[in-house]
Amino acid sequence: MRTSLLALGTLLAVQLAGCGTPSVPSATGGAGGAPGSGGSSAVTGGAPSSGGAPASGGAASSGGAGGGAGSGGAAASGGGPGGGSASGGASSGGGGAGSGGAEPCVVDHGGEIPSLKDHFADHFDMGAAIDTSYQNYSALLTKHYSSITAEDQMKFDALQPSEGNFSYGTADQMVTFAVQNGMQVRGHALVWHRQTPSWVFNGSSAQVLQRMKAHITAVMQHFQGKVKIWDVVNEAIMDDGTYRSGSEEGNDQSSPWYGALGVDYIKEAFIAARAADPDALLYYNDYYNYHPLRRQAIFDMLQGLLEEGVPIDGVGLQAHLNLAPGTDPDEQSSHQTVANMEQAIEMYSSLGLDVQVTEMDISLYLRGITYTEDMFYTPEKVTAEVLEQQAERYREFFDMFRAHSDVISSVTTWGISDDNTWLSEFDSGRQDFPLLFDGNQEPKPAFWAVVDFCN
Ligand code: G3I
Repeated sequence: MRTSLLALGTLLAVQLAGCGTPSVPSATGGAGGAPGSGGSSAVTGGAPSSGGAPASGGAASSGGAGGGAGSGGAAASGGGPGGGSASGGASSGGGGAGSGGAEPCVVDHGGEIPSLKDHFADHFDMGAAIDTSYQNYSALLTKHYSSITAEDQMKFDALQPSEGNFSYGTADQMVTFAVQNGMQVRGHALVWHRQTPSWVFNGSSAQVLQRMKAHITAVMQHFQGKVKIWDVVNEAIMDDGTYRSGSEEGNDQSSPWYGALGVDYIKEAFIAARAADPDALLYYNDYYNYHPLRRQAIFDMLQGLLEEGVPIDGVGLQAHLNLAPGTDPDEQSSHQTVANMEQAIEMYSSLGLDVQVTEMDISLYLRGITYTEDMFYTPEKVTAEVLEQQAERYREFFDMFRAHSDVISSVTTWGISDDNTWLSEFDSGRQDFPLLFDGNQEPKPAFWAVVDFCN
């Protein structure tokens, strides 16, 4: 039986939140982690392309807009029936309708592993990204998740590998699985600078625009009624707050969409999406939203588009995080705090947009550290201490998400269990353990931390 005391008060929460020091294999310093999969045995901390930094070691989130159904301040401990350890937590303030710190709240899961989707039913949908091996995870998926995202199978190259030849087979199977199990599907992603075939950009601007519209129309109408949420445009902004243009070098950073169409490709995509399926909800999705420059640039872009009447319903925050924030002030991960992400949520929702956390995971690796092969985590090298630290980080973010559940409609992890994560798929062979379930599909301390609140 798992019992833990919540609402032990702000003082304890702050004390516990502040005590974590990253526990990782020895570090060699190094500069901020450049994205990219590496390919040598030494890898710089952090996630490629999107992944980012860690969080604050300090007290969890700030107050915020309040009004959500979150639990107020709390600290808790305990492991689940699976025997995982867990420990104290931090809370977000937020003025939620939960415990508020006045009455102690006992979390008792009755010796069972609670269903995430049921436990969060009053807050938001719980989602997971799946790949072609999803059937190996069907028990976890059907018990815990009310939403799925195809990790790669609904991207442009998967659905239209050559012009006019659509390949829906795998995506259809995934969507059927979701529909049969009463799950939402997040369609990901219609217009992105990656995983788009080169034929799309071979030709005049007019041709590229026509192909973009044709793809959006065909795909959305194919899935109409089954896929009701779409990431229409993904990752249009750079770290410095400028638009991702066609001129960036290296690591698939450049956007051929911008190169061919200029900034108007964004509005054209949303307009085409609304026309294709007027009932679908349309999202802009991006990463590092906690970075002040990116956060503001995304806000400015969305505000400008909305003022022009461009149909946008929501914004996705990817939330690829690391175990702790980086220390290099010039590197994005130094901004990876709960308070920074909370500010993004408040800013975007102030525009009347829905917010979804779309790709959350918490890498065990830290930015700014060069990891050599002997330092890579393996299942044997992942200590209880580091799992605790990860659990606390998950707790802090979920506490804040719950405090804003009036504007957050879903939280999705990018994967289900640690045996299948994009973060372990780099050429370096470096394994990572960023999710709520371990490689045996058992709940981790992180799982128990996120369900450690009273409804
Ligand atoms: O399908 C081919 C296979 O035929 C080939 O043998 C194999 C060899 O490397 O590659 C396979 O393609 C890989 C594909 O995933 C499917 O597994 C690509 O190399 C690989 O680059 C691709 O990685 C995906 C990545 O996006 C590409 O940018 C990851 O699975 C996927 O998790 C990741 O997801 C992105 C989101 O869409 C947007 N936000 C960031 C997030 C993480 O990068």
